[in-house]
Amino acid sequence: MDAVKETINNALEALHITSASQGSPTKEPTEEQLNELKAKYSKAGQEQVFAFYDKLSTAEKAGLYEQLRNFDPKYINEITERALHPAKAESEESKLEPLPENATSSVLDSKQDDLDKWYNSGLELIAENKVAVVLMAGGQGTRLGSSAPKGCFDIGLPSQKSLFQLQGERIKKAELLAAKKHSKQSVTIPWYVMTSGPTRGPTAKFFEENNFFGLKKENVVIFEQGVLPCISNEGKILLESKSKVAVAPDGNGGLYQALIQSGVVGDMGKRGIKHIHAYCVDNCLVKVADPVFIGFSASKNVDIATKVVRKRNAKESVGLILQKNGKPDVVEYSEIASEDAEAKDSKNADLLKFRAANIVNHYYSYGFLESIPEWAKKLPHHVARKKIPFVNTETGETVKPEKPNGIKLEQFVFDCFPFLTLEKFACMEVKREDEFSPLKNARGTGEDDPDTSKQDIMTQGKKWVQAAGATVVSEDQTSGIEVSPLISYGGEGLDFLKNRTLKAPAVIKSEE
Ligand code: UTP
Repeated sequence: MDAVKETINNALEALHITSASQGSPTKEPTEEQLNELKAKYSKAGQEQVFAFYDKLSTAEKAGLYEQLRNFDPKYINEITERALHPAKAESEESKLEPLPENATSSVLDSKQDDLDKWYNSGLELIAENKVAVVLMAGGQGTRLGSSAPKGCFDIGLPSQKSLFQLQGERIKKAELLAAKKHSKQSVTIPWYVMTSGPTRGPTAKFFEENNFFGLKKENVVIFEQGVLPCISNEGKILLESKSKVAVAPDGNGGLYQALIQSGVVGDMGKRGIKHIHAYCVDNCLVKVADPVFIGFSASKNVDIATKVVRKRNAKESVGLILQKNGKPDVVEYSEIASEDAEAKDSKNADLLKFRAANIVNHYYSYGFLESIPEWAKKLPHHVARKKIPFVNTETGETVKPEKPNGIKLEQFVFDCFPFLTLEKFACMEVKREDEFSPLKNARGTGEDDPDTSKQDIMTQGKKWVQAAGATVVSEDQTSGIEVSPLISYGGEGLDFLKNRTLKAPAVIKSEE
């Protein structure tokens, strides 16, 4: 058994896939070890997690012990308490302002010269192998309702490409564009893919089955974020079964701890990475490793930069990037007063004063990621009230609740923004139709669902080929053109289509 495990671990290591939570121990703890752990949980008022321990099999005892050993019940109690009763927000006196002008830029009104300058410098940094990409793909995609990780989802493109494939091919194309421009044999943009307990195995399998989408497998690093126990409304750690604690991923803010603990930041250091682009798996239009964004952020010499899109109207439910009490911050739509939501820009009454909608698309300097251990403990936890199936520790019966019976604790990736001063933070406004179309909901919802994702890709492709001088004909106005990322990253390189007529829907996957 151990030999098999070792072989598997060696194979995983060769893939750069850390194996922290692979397999489960088979040896139960000694009495002394068990008593020590029980005492810790009792002291924290969480001894119910051992309710069925004595009746478990050896393997189950070993598994439960291992799971419990990895949590500190005192810390769990503390973060639960803080999440349920956060220090009173100074909302009355909190002062909101848009970010200062010198920290923001918009591709909507930037000079072409600036855009070219950022693109060229970003591509140069890519050519110097200084740029990496981090993907947050640890979410459970409950609204979409697919059992596979969201990145494996086929949004219905003619090519049937998954979200992971679109993103992997964009990385490949960015590498090729940089290599070509700088006459390099090869260029590498390492891709660090954050998964969680439920998404890790299927994600690794999908990448292997798809040959890492043409990337070298040693440059694709799959790692895992942490989990936290689910807590009852009474503050007790819940059991999912008699031998297992109910756990959930610790939110996309779990990224920071995971980057350190899984050795990703160390790996970046060894590779000489200086600039990092991080994004969410659900955005089919994401410009992965976007040279313009990298060049812009590097030129500003900031620790974090964010891409935003323009808020559609005062009522749109989006988080806003702004300054709060002189620090960069995100304010959720539920937290903003309606007079702030409706306020107009003092220079242009057609625009909202607060219009920088958060799309969780970030730039990080390597130095900032290196500093994670200095501030990670300060990152707060938030409460998500959920229906959590659990075992009643008194009766032993499994309960599937019909209404929320407990909480999951989550960290948010943007909660570290206020740790920075304004000079170390920048923001770039991009066009929504070019860069943001998230997949959140199940097909048929009509909003942020597979059909809107597909439509946005097809519409973008059509726009690109028309700009290159092609004529698109179709029976249906909404049919578009899918342009393979391997042919064009952002609309460039399509001159070969000039004066051609394309019948939509169609896929452009080669220059033939
Ligand atoms: P969402 O908050 O939209 O969650 O995640 P989700 O899992 O995609 O969907 P629902 O809410 O369950 O329907 C935004 C991004 O953050 C990542 C997701 O994978 C997605 O890219 N995420 C979320 C994590 O990486 N880890 C988490 O614990 C939560």
